[in-house]
Amino acid sequence: MDKMKVIPVFGTRPEAIKMCPLVSELKGRSEEFETVVCTTGQHREMLDQVLEVFDVEPDHDLHVMKPGQTLFDITSDVLLRIKAVFEEERPDAVLVHGDTTTSFAAALAAFYLQIPVGHVEAGLRTRNLYSPWPEEFNRQAVDVISRWYFAPTETSRQNLLDEAKPSDRIFVTGNTGIDALRTTVLEGYSHPELDWAEGSRLILITAHRRENLGEPMHRMFRAIRRVMEERPDTKAIYPIHMNPQVRRAAHEELDGFDRLRIIDPLEVVDFHNFMARSHLILTDSGGIQEEAPSLGKPVLVMRDTTERPEGVAAGTLRLVGTEEETIYREFSRLLDDPAEYSTMSHASNPYGDGHACVRIAQALSKELRG
Ligand code: UD1
Ligand code: UDP
Repeated sequence: MDKMKVIPVFGTRPEAIKMCPLVSELKGRSEEFETVVCTTGQHREMLDQVLEVFDVEPDHDLHVMKPGQTLFDITSDVLLRIKAVFEEERPDAVLVHGDTTTSFAAALAAFYLQIPVGHVEAGLRTRNLYSPWPEEFNRQAVDVISRWYFAPTETSRQNLLDEAKPSDRIFVTGNTGIDALRTTVLEGYSHPELDWAEGSRLILITAHRRENLGEPMHRMFRAIRRVMEERPDTKAIYPIHMNPQVRRAAHEELDGFDRLRIIDPLEVVDFHNFMARSHLILTDSGGIQEEAPSLGKPVLVMRDTTERPEGVAAGTLRLVGTEEETIYREFSRLLDDPAEYSTMSHASNPYGDGHACVRIAQALSKELRG
């Protein structure tokens, strides 16, 4: 029986966290699949951290990251460099994930070479092309190109059906990020930063969205600092994204406040365990909105829109926008109102049972053989 050659492509931290478990699943089926991993290197340090944890060694790395990279840089560098990889490998299928520019450009390259694309985490929507920007465009564009849709939830399946995508090519699998989470949260985990926060309510912070760079990010940080200065029983840990623009804004607003520590990005096992031990999370991240409900951790989402309504419906996520006064008010309320806190901290699992990768591999096998 001929093996089917599949190329998973990814380039940023969150894609790696959600694609590495799938790489392992496909590699475990080596009698069926030949799995050739291509990373674009859209991220460098933050990608390498994840590859190391999951012990994945890319067969191809396009090394596209440069400081201050624009969307033009990422799109054109990935598109041009990945052409040679696809032409050399001639895969039966390319798999991309989510909504990054890596995913969009890789899917476009596959389309130009008429290689079928499978979209992992297909069907998420805000229907506002500028929020999140450029991710909403990326995910919609990938779904125009894709042959197979691996939708994490019924809601994402319905979004695809609303766009007249063929129902027999949509597979509801759960989110592969939950597959990773099954293995990372550990009893008895300890870390010096958690020791520092012992005895206080731990606030975990992340922020990086392109549309929040500049003034919105300054407003977010100012609100967080004001709330925490008024409540001495809180401490915050902020594992900061490597984007220099984010770092500048954070240091300008948060330096000199010793109950908030800015630290380098945590590797994923650490981050998941920090989440599990936090009191609440403030973020504009996508993936964290999926992980937090499983852990029963309230999240204030510092964005105007979310493509993850399941977590809002489950009660764990609340959209608070990027206005300083709104964040100040909602963050204060969640700290001061135990009933409110308890309503938001029930664990639920809207993003699947942690077996998404098996379902994707099985569906892909059937489709490619068919
Ligand atoms: C990208 C994705 C976004 C995703 C985010 C996850 C796009 C357009 N954006 O945004 O969807 O939510 O990743 O984190 O695809 N940098 C480093 N080292 C790293 C990573 C980044 O130095 O390991 C710095 C570089 O200066 C780089 C900058 O961060 O130029 C921004 O990285 P980029 O991938 O362009 O944007 P993100 O905001 O990370
Ligand atoms: N994460 C991590 N280390 C950190 C911060 C986040 O490993 O210091 C993980 C987090 O658990 C989630 C993913 O990175 O799985 C989210 O990535 P990010 O917020 O960069 O991107 P997004 O999900 O918004 O695309």
